[in-house]
Amino acid sequence: MGAKDKDSGELIIYLFLLLYWCSLKYCYATYNITSSQALSQGQTLVSPSQSFELGFFSPNSTANHQYIGIWYKEVSPLKVVWVANRENPLRLTDSNASLTIGSNGNLELLDGNNKLVWSTNITVASNRSVAVLSDNGNFLLKDGTSGEELWQSFQHPGDTFLPGAVLGFNTKTGESYVLTSWKTDTDPSLGNFIAGLSTHKPSQLFIWSNGSTPRWRSGPWEKSKFAGIPEMNTLYQSPIDLVEDAEKGTTYINFNSYNTSVVMYCGLSSGGVLKTMVKEKGGDWYNDWEAPTHRCEVYGMCGPFGVCRDSESLICQCMRGFVPKSIEEWRDGNWTGGCVRRRQLLCETNTSSPSSKDDGLVDMQSFSSGGEDLFLRLAHSELVNVKETREHTDVIQHDQTKLPTFDFGAILVATNHFSMENKLGQGGFGSVYKGKLQDGKEIAVKRLSSSSGQGVQEFKNEMILISKLQHRNLVRLMGYCVEEEEKLLVYEFMPNKSLDYFIFEPRRSTQLNWTTRMNIINGIARGLMYLHRDSCARVIHRDLKASNILLDGKMNPKISDFGLARLFQGSIVLATTRRIVGTLGYMSPEYAMRGTFSEKSDVFSFGVLILEIVSGQKNTGFNYSDQHSSLISYAWQSWNESRGVDLVDDALADSYSTEEAIRCVHIGLLCVQDFAADRPSMPEVISMLSNETNRSQPKQPIFTLQNSPVPDVRSQNDSKLSANEATMSLVVGR
Ligand SMILES: *[C@@H]1O[C@H](CO)[C@@H](O)[C@H](O)[C@H]1NC(C)=O
Ligand SMILES: *[C@@H]1O[C@H](CO)[C@@H](O)[C@H](O)[C@H]1NC(C)=O
Ligand SMILES: *[C@@H]1O[C@H](CO)[C@@H](O)[C@H](O)[C@H]1NC(C)=O
Ligand SMILES: *[C@@H]1O[C@H](CO)[C@@H](O)[C@H](O)[C@H]1NC(C)=O
Ligand SMILES: *[C@@H]1O[C@H](CO)[C@@H](O)[C@H](O)[C@H]1NC(C)=O
Ligand SMILES: *[C@@H]1O[C@H](CO)[C@@H](O)[C@H](O)[C@H]1NC(C)=O
Ligand SMILES: *[C@@H]1O[C@H](CO)[C@@H](O)[C@H](O)[C@H]1NC(C)=O
Ligand SMILES: *[C@@H]1O[C@H](CO)[C@@H](O)[C@H](O)[C@H]1NC(C)=O
Ligand SMILES: *[C@@H]1O[C@H](CO)[C@@H](O)[C@H](O)[C@H]1NC(C)=O
Ligand SMILES: *[C@@H]1O[C@H](CO)[C@@H](O)[C@H](O)[C@H]1NC(C)=O
Ligand SMILES: *[C@@H]1O[C@H](CO)[C@@H](O)[C@H](O)[C@H]1NC(C)=O
Ligand SMILES: *[C@@H]1O[C@H](CO)[C@@H](O)[C@H](O)[C@H]1NC(C)=O
Repeated sequence: MGAKDKDSGELIIYLFLLLYWCSLKYCYATYNITSSQALSQGQTLVSPSQSFELGFFSPNSTANHQYIGIWYKEVSPLKVVWVANRENPLRLTDSNASLTIGSNGNLELLDGNNKLVWSTNITVASNRSVAVLSDNGNFLLKDGTSGEELWQSFQHPGDTFLPGAVLGFNTKTGESYVLTSWKTDTDPSLGNFIAGLSTHKPSQLFIWSNGSTPRWRSGPWEKSKFAGIPEMNTLYQSPIDLVEDAEKGTTYINFNSYNTSVVMYCGLSSGGVLKTMVKEKGGDWYNDWEAPTHRCEVYGMCGPFGVCRDSESLICQCMRGFVPKSIEEWRDGNWTGGCVRRRQLLCETNTSSPSSKDDGLVDMQSFSSGGEDLFLRLAHSELVNVKETREHTDVIQHDQTKLPTFDFGAILVATNHFSMENKLGQGGFGSVYKGKLQDGKEIAVKRLSSSSGQGVQEFKNEMILISKLQHRNLVRLMGYCVEEEEKLLVYEFMPNKSLDYFIFEPRRSTQLNWTTRMNIINGIARGLMYLHRDSCARVIHRDLKASNILLDGKMNPKISDFGLARLFQGSIVLATTRRIVGTLGYMSPEYAMRGTFSEKSDVFSFGVLILEIVSGQKNTGFNYSDQHSSLISYAWQSWNESRGVDLVDDALADSYSTEEAIRCVHIGLLCVQDFAADRPSMPEVISMLSNETNRSQPKQPIFTLQNSPVPDVRSQNDSKLSANEATMSLVVGR
């Protein structure tokens, strides 16, 4: 255990400080407790560098209770991180209580009548023990002679997880370290909630209520983060690390403060919310992360086949084709019973069809806790991968998305009968309308054009894919409506239209200052990385372009239009298609020429986007005076002549960071390199964007669709690929 190693090494320092302080005859605060030096009311034990303090405290004076606790010494308001006698408070009026080393060598809390109230209660060889408080807030009982650690508060956590401590379990010894909430904010006795690691593999962080009922879980641990916590992307410097030692039988999470100049802890509140709080020097506490944050994140909120919608007054609804199991319970606000099929046998009639296998929905019962939220993704990650990744588009519309459905009539009202005034534009496979629901919430409705009969595949694809994804840089699908000929997707409304609306219009591009542009670039990068790496499914978007980047009220970018996206199994890195779809100008050479696509084809499109955002120029329809056939070749020249500075949009005048502009052009050029293998991955892009790391030199992009020297795309599947008609017409078309 980390705490152990550290503290034995610090023993000498303790002794030194002790001598130093004793010589100053400083009596109020003390640095240890021994059999001859007890701690009494009014005194405190402090850690060597004064970070933590231990003593008597009373969280609620009217309750006439006092406790021994540990808190941050210099931080106000007082934040208690550990309590000794949680279940046995002393009377506040008991001024003669003391914390001392008893004759059996244990730490003992005695009341004014010398009655034992709390004890470390271990077997100790001698009575020469000493208790000290270390600088990470760990309260230690040590052998006074050998320095051996006999007991430590980090192995008896309260409601607070401190850097240096661990949470977890040891299957060999049966020990487990969990957080237990306080009963109320002012009552430290054992509360209703427990947080810790589950013992089944893979380990997940859980919050249980009333001992064993799961309330929330994190999703399984994946390399450096919990899969179900969207905030924990690769950029997030997670303070949490999971350590497993099969030999010792231990699984622990460490909590490391990544920055020693900030104070942080993770606490389980009396209301069952796990919160990571951070405080910088001189600043206030702020909440870095918490879970569960929404009602819908609460485990099993709406029961099996229930769909949770935090935005609705009626929070739980049944999936299409299902009805509440118990109307009475639902009426009383107890939704945990969930829903049952309206017609039991409907899906069981054709046992040979693939859809009957999809009826594995039953497997999802125990996970069906959220709706379009986080939990859906968790649910799928628990299911067999095959089901998830069964080839992309050909998924029957069977209701497997668990998305909320919208009533067609309600949409008609919301969009004013799809009036022209409400029309926002034309999406990939239908028109998009603005709407306003009865509760005032604004929505965007994508309506598949019923006449053409086209786009059904894209519609299904988008619905199924996007319902599995959730990230702040992806547009959120709120639900759908399928009624006879009508097929509608309902999204959150984005008030600021799309990126192309701003950047390519000289008049409007002045509204996007440099900070906003950087924020947009970073946001797209994070959304894309989520698609490629962080969602449980691996998704390649295939049609990333300025018009598919929507902007919310704060100009945050949201990737949209997943009609062409593809879902991948973990191992597939390259795929081919005979049907080349996408948008000219954003298509990577290998895709345009051979139909080969991978994450790196999205990286290419992202590179084009960066160059467009920096320059305010379109890659397609680029106003190529003389030699430049595209924005890319212009960017290349600019890079060589001015490190890309003269590429920067005139609309920005001088109000931009030259260093950041150079960095962006550089990254953009790395992303649009001809060979997919030369292009960085999205995690690498994010690291380069956030950090002045060494970036490799970009190679000159020579490929353009116009004069196309076909590059070697280094595909292993070359034999399978053949230029097809679509490719040819593309080349001609350009
Ligand atoms: C303090 O304790 C009293 C007595 O137990 C209780 O009635 C009161 O609600 C508590 N106050 C707070 C702020 O919790
Ligand atoms: C505490 O101890 C002192 C000295 O033994 C005694 O005089 C006093 O009454 C005690 N106070 C309480 C509250 O028991
Ligand atoms: C500690 O133990 C020694 C020998 O076992 C005994 O003589 C002494 O009284 C004990 N001291 C205390 C404070 O209990
Ligand atoms: C000490 O531990 C024993 C055995 O676990 C238990 O029976 C006893 O009640 C404990 N005593 C105190 C004061 O906690
Ligand atoms: C826990 O149990 C208590 C009493 O049995 C009940 O009142 C409370 O609602 C339960 N809490 C949760 C979160 O289930
Ligand atoms: C640590 O936090 C301080 C205060 O927020 C900040 O100034 C400093 O840059 C941070 N250091 C690192 C290495 O992140
Ligand atoms: C809620 O419903 C579930 C399942 O129907 C039942 O087991 C549970 O006791 C109910 N809870 C309350 C607080 O009524
Ligand atoms: C059952 O499903 C199979 C495969 O999808 C299909 O060929 C067959 O027609 C279906 N039978 C019935 C009775 O629907
Ligand atoms: C950039 O624009 C945003 C929003 O339009 C604004 O909040 C911000 O202050 C601007 N930044 C600079 C440096 O002008
Ligand atoms: C973005 O939308 C918000 C909210 O509708 C609006 O206040 C703001 O002016 C818009 N920004 C731009 C640059 O149009
Ligand atoms: C292209 O650029 C030239 C010179 O900058 C300009 O005169 C011309 O109007 C531009 N053409 C278009 C279509 O923007
Ligand atoms: C920034 O770069 C340094 C040096 O390459 C590296 O140690 C550090 O982890 C990087 N930080 C981030 C956030 O990528």
